[in-house]
Formats: sequence, C-alpha cells, structure tokens
Amino acid sequence: MQELSSVRYLSQRVAGLKPSGIRKFFDIAATMDDVISLGIGEPDFTTPRPVLEAGIRSLQNGETHYTSNWGKLELRRAIADNLARLYGVTYNPVDEIIATVGVSEALYLALTAILDPGDEVIIPTPCFVSYQAEVILAGGVPVEIPAKMEDNFQVDPERIRAAITPRTKCIFVGYPNNPTGAVAERETLLEAAKLAEEFDLVLLSDEIYDRLVYGFEHVCLPALDESIKQRTILLGGFSKDYAMTGWRIGYAAGPAELIKGLVRIHQYTIMSAPTTAQDAAIEALRSGEPHVQEMVAEYDRRRKLIVGGLNRLGLTTFEPRGAFYAFPKIAASGMDDETFAETLLREERVAVVPGNAFGPGGEGFVRACYATAYEKIEEALHRMEKFMERHG
Ligand SMILES: Cc1ncc(COP(=O)(O)O)c(C=O)c1O
Repeated sequence: MQELSSVRYLSQRVAGLKPSGIRKFFDIAATMDDVISLGIGEPDFTTPRPVLEAGIRSLQNGETHYTSNWGKLELRRAIADNLARLYGVTYNPVDEIIATVGVSEALYLALTAILDPGDEVIIPTPCFVSYQAEVILAGGVPVEIPAKMEDNFQVDPERIRAAITPRTKCIFVGYPNNPTGAVAERETLLEAAKLAEEFDLVLLSDEIYDRLVYGFEHVCLPALDESIKQRTILLGGFSKDYAMTGWRIGYAAGPAELIKGLVRIHQYTIMSAPTTAQDAAIEALRSGEPHVQEMVAEYDRRRKLIVGGLNRLGLTTFEPRGAFYAFPKIAASGMDDETFAETLLREERVAVVPGNAFGPGGEGFVRACYATAYEKIEEALHRMEKFMERHG
C-alpha cells in the first residue's frame, strides 16, 4: 500500500527550510523539569502597566475594527516623532512608515517587495535566525559572510565587497545584534553604506533592540546621511524595547516608493496590524520611557553578572553592549556548540542555544539570553561551573 504522506505537496522552497535551531532546544527543554532557560530571546518583564491599560481601554472603547492598511496615523506620527527625537532622522508618517505584525512581518514584506527570483542578499552572521529563511521565502538567495569576535562582531566591509555579484540586491545590517550583543560602530557602518552606494544596493537595517544599550550609543543607519536614508529600509519594533512580544507590533520606515511596495503586500496578506496592539504601542511611545529605563538598568545588572561569570569559567565572552544576549566562546569545553548545548541541557538543565543556529559565523559559540531573573542567572552560572569542572 502506498505510504500516506502529504509532504510531497509542500513547495521545494518550504520543504528546504531548516527548522529553527532555537525551537529545537526549547522543545527538548519543555519535556524536562527544573530547567533554567537562557534560550528564548524575549523579555521576562510583563508589558508596562500604562501600556497594558491602553490596550484594555482600546478594547473597552470598541476599537475592534480594521485600521488603515498603513496602521493608525496617530501611531505612525508617534513613531516618526520618536525617530526624529532620538536620532534626528525624519520620516513622513503619511507615506514613509507602515505598522506591521512585529519586525517579523516587516522583514517578510521588505524582502518580498524588493527581491526578484535569484536576487542575492548579503547577510553578516551570526544574525537573527529568520533572515536567511525570509530571504529564501521571498525567492532570494542568502549569501552569508562571517562577522568576527576580533572585530567586535562588526560587519566587515572587505568581506561585503568580496561577496557582491551582479545579482546582489541588498545588504542586511542588524545592530544592536542578536545573538552577539554588538552595537554598530559608526565608521564601519559608514563604510558598508558606501559600498551600498557604489553598487546601488538596498540596505535593510533591523534596529529592533535600539533602546537596549548599556552606556553605548545606538547608531541609527538611515540617520547617517540623507543619501543612505534614500536606500535604507529601517525596521523597528516594540517587542524587545517595551516588553511587548505577544502584542505583535512593529514597523518599517523608508522612502515612500519602497514603503508603498510593502503596503501592497501587507494589504493582501495581513490587512492591518492588530488594532489593540497599535493603541498600546501609541501609549508605549507616549509614556513608556521611564519603564524602558528601568528595564535597561535591570538588564545591565544581569549583563554584568553573566559576562563576569562566564569569563571566570573560561568561556571567553565578548562584552555585549546592547540587546540582552551573552555570546560565550565554548572552546574551553572541547565540544562543538551543538554538543555543548545538548550536554549542558541534559546534565545540568541549563538551556542555551548553539551558535550555529545563527549562521556559520556563530559556530563555536552559544547564546545565553539574560532577560531572565538575576537569581536564575546566578543558579545557571553555578550549574555551568559544575559542568565546566567536568568538561573544562
Ligand atoms: C534581531 C531580531 N529581529 C526581529 C525579531 C522579531 O521580532 P518581532 O517580535 O517584532 O517580530 C527578533 C526576535 O527575536 C530579533 O531578535
């Protein structure tokens, strides 16, 4: 009898996608007791109270309808004002900003809007796990180049130049970086942007962690100069900065002709970002600042604890300047990153993510998210110490 499998119906594009290396470890950890998870990259804080209340009020006021495809103008205005205030970069809220279902949707829209089949996208790795998959889903070809710890995990303009072909359409930039915690250095960013100008490429800048920096400046790519802004799609969001992952709200900002392309896809696939979340996001921009500062101060305390602790265990850790991840090199364990993460989970019930989940540049590292309670990080470090006594 013929085997009953429907897998043959999947498109080659979808069948060829690798499952996310993060989910795999999360699934194993979910079957075990007493696991300390440094695995998933999301704030442990609940959304700040005034933002929650704005969402509740929105529902109670009967705001249960679609909004404009672009998102509420009030939200787009608030986003434009925020970007102007923080970085001095100006966008017209009417046709240069679209509200999306998280940066995840903004990534999908941006890539689908600009890529023709076979177009290449240069992706410095280690990077957020979705970039390569999103490029493939949009019909493009991801071209990965490594960013090195020795270079503070900055994009390497020489490697970018070497990777450019006649098919290159776009260069990805992602700072503050997931998974390394690196923050962009202005000079390197300018050099990368100059290459985009020389070869007439789009710059896609994922700045979702822009507010989570620890005494370092976040450099906003389109704010560098007007000609860079004219070829940049800026992606930003609320998930990380305001502890709003579950609300699903983000945005893309860029030249009107490009953003109109994104809106064309969004209107057919999504219609409009969740109305409740749009109202909550307006409140986040209106009154969220002290809450952001409070969360940043607490992340900073945890950052110092985890980075100091990992380095003491011989797991050399680059000092993260932004986001909420530590990215230790695990060479001292004598294991590769997959084996390290799996053995640590099974033996000590601490979940981290193998660096190769973030692309070839992440091999030999693991990612430990410190958006979890201080005491849990202390206990995780204690368990890792026992682990390294056996394996170091
Ligand atoms: C760098 C980066 N970009 C985008 C996202 C997706 O965020 P959102 O919740 O806005 O879809 C994440 C989430 O982990 C991320 O780390």
